[in-house]
Amino acid sequence: MNFNNKVFWITGASSGMGKAVSIEIAKSKCRLIISDRDAAGLTETAKIIESSGSQVRIEPLDMSDSAAIMQTAEKVLSDGEKIFGLYQFAGISQRSLVTENPLENDRLIMEVNFFGVVALTKAILPSMIENGGGQLAVASSIVGKFGFPYRSAYSASKHALHGFFETLLAENSKNNIKVSVLIGGRIRTNISKFAIDKDGNEHGKLDAGQANGISPEKAAIQICRGLRREKKEVLVGGSELIMVQIRRFLPALYYKLAKKISPL
Ligand SMILES: NC(=O)c1ccc[n+]([C@@H]2O[C@H](COP(=O)([O-])OP(=O)(O)OC[C@H]3O[C@@H](n4cnc5c(N)ncnc54)[C@H](OP(=O)(O)O)[C@@H]3O)[C@@H](O)[C@H]2O)c1
Repeated sequence: MNFNNKVFWITGASSGMGKAVSIEIAKSKCRLIISDRDAAGLTETAKIIESSGSQVRIEPLDMSDSAAIMQTAEKVLSDGEKIFGLYQFAGISQRSLVTENPLENDRLIMEVNFFGVVALTKAILPSMIENGGGQLAVASSIVGKFGFPYRSAYSASKHALHGFFETLLAENSKNNIKVSVLIGGRIRTNISKFAIDKDGNEHGKLDAGQANGISPEKAAIQICRGLRREKKEVLVGGSELIMVQIRRFLPALYYKLAKKISPL
């Protein structure tokens, strides 16, 4: 797979990995539709895309609003956009214990990280099939592979993506649909700053995990390599990714470590 002359829709494109991947893909002279809530951030990403010689269309989108997602997708498709790749990065994280996190926070995280992704995927997939195929990618996390303190709903939302996309792939590989689930470790973005606490407020801190993580640009190179190779799962990050193997092959050790690693 190469990115040249294809159309991609990327969410979460105003910051972090979504922005970095948009900029990386734009080097291949293609057309990008970029979405996020932050219109000013999207304009900034769009300028960089255009300066690479690629085309760009801005579609602001709130991933917690399924009706708006369906409407926007309908508009984009009725304008004749033939989307080859739908890469979804929009997401929010969490910094609160199970015992203190109110159910409405659990629902909001599931709405943005899972139902929003499902809504946009369902809106675009039939057109991809009609066009002869396409590629879906979604940002999961290493905590989509195991549980981790202070991340109950976040971890659950990422686990849910694995089940959804694995099933989608089993049903649609005959339609030439490729799926890449991106399993992020620690990447130096704003994800911890905008994570919601037990009161629904922003956590407001760059946690040590993110501060010591790889840059979003380096993550984008790892992600684009995985997308080009049509990898079903793409591990993104540094040495922390070993936890995925520990959880799989040495579960008893994982249970010990999960209690000890600082979650903040
Ligand atoms: N950084 C890490 O260490 C790490 C590790 C594993 C997985 N991930 C995942 O990677 C993805 C990208 O995160 P990032 O690390 O690049 O952090 P980021 O810079 O905070 O990006 C998250 C993006 O999601 C957007 N977003 C949040 N709520 C939204 C909503 N309701 N509607 C539309 N857009 C929304 C944010 O923009 P606005 O708030 O401006 O709308 C932002 O652009 C996320 O799904 C995250 O869970 C990150």
